[in-house]
Amino acid sequence: MIQLTNITKSFGPLQVLKGIDLSIADHEIVSIVGPSGAGKTTLLQIIGTLDRPDTGQIVFDGTDVAALHERQLSAFRNRHIGFVFQFHQLLPEFTAVENVMMPALIAGRNAREARNDAMEILVYLRLTDRAEHKPGELSGGEKQRVAVARALINHPSVILADEPSGSLDTKHKEELHQLFFDLRNKLGQTFVIVTHDEGLASLTDRTIHLVDGRIVNAPQTSSASHL
Ligand SMILES: Nc1ncnc2c1ncn2[C@@H]1O[C@H](COP(=O)(O)OP(=O)(O)OP(=O)(O)O)[C@@H](O)[C@H]1O
Ligand SMILES: [Mg+2]
Repeated sequence: MIQLTNITKSFGPLQVLKGIDLSIADHEIVSIVGPSGAGKTTLLQIIGTLDRPDTGQIVFDGTDVAALHERQLSAFRNRHIGFVFQFHQLLPEFTAVENVMMPALIAGRNAREARNDAMEILVYLRLTDRAEHKPGELSGGEKQRVAVARALINHPSVILADEPSGSLDTKHKEELHQLFFDLRNKLGQTFVIVTHDEGLASLTDRTIHLVDGRIVNAPQTSSASHL
């Protein structure tokens, strides 16, 4: 369970988040929608502990992340949170499997083990044949699936995605969305997905509407009843 209480964030004179209260249950798939500039990415970065709020509290399963020092925080993030970005952000000079292994190596696991795990995930995502190719040799949909594999490698309980299907065509978009639901049903992750895609938002358990730094008309809890 992730609990955000009265989160505010400003960039200089611009207050981007104006007091966000939000709780997200385990195994829930939540979408965040809202106009450009509403603060969606800022909120996701704060939930993901990539950025710190000015005020307010974020508690992950009882851990108050604001109380963690930088090094503890990156260890926490590496272990508990997976990220999927709009533009995959794969490292171009490494193969698909090496990209997927990266967070495991950062977590201190040995290379053989990390490679075995990465291959297992790539098999699950139907990317076996693409494992030894570099991102420049993959299609958009394949790159995004590799990015999802990379997000999964350390078995995080939470996956945060910022417009994950923004750069994909309809077919690959639907495949990626289906993958999120399959993963939740199989592995039980919690997903927080920023999206402009109304189709995706309508499939999620709950949609948070963010307008001008505030949540408008969002129910506070929902049960992830499919589990
Ligand atoms: N590092 C920063 N420094 C200054 N201003 C920033 C910074 N990051 C974001 N902003 C500003 O904060 C506001 C919210 O940005 P944010 O990226 O959270 O919006 P968003 O809802 O994700 O928009 P979009 O749908 O276009 O991605 C914008 O006005 C943006 O210009
Ligand atoms: Mg954004």
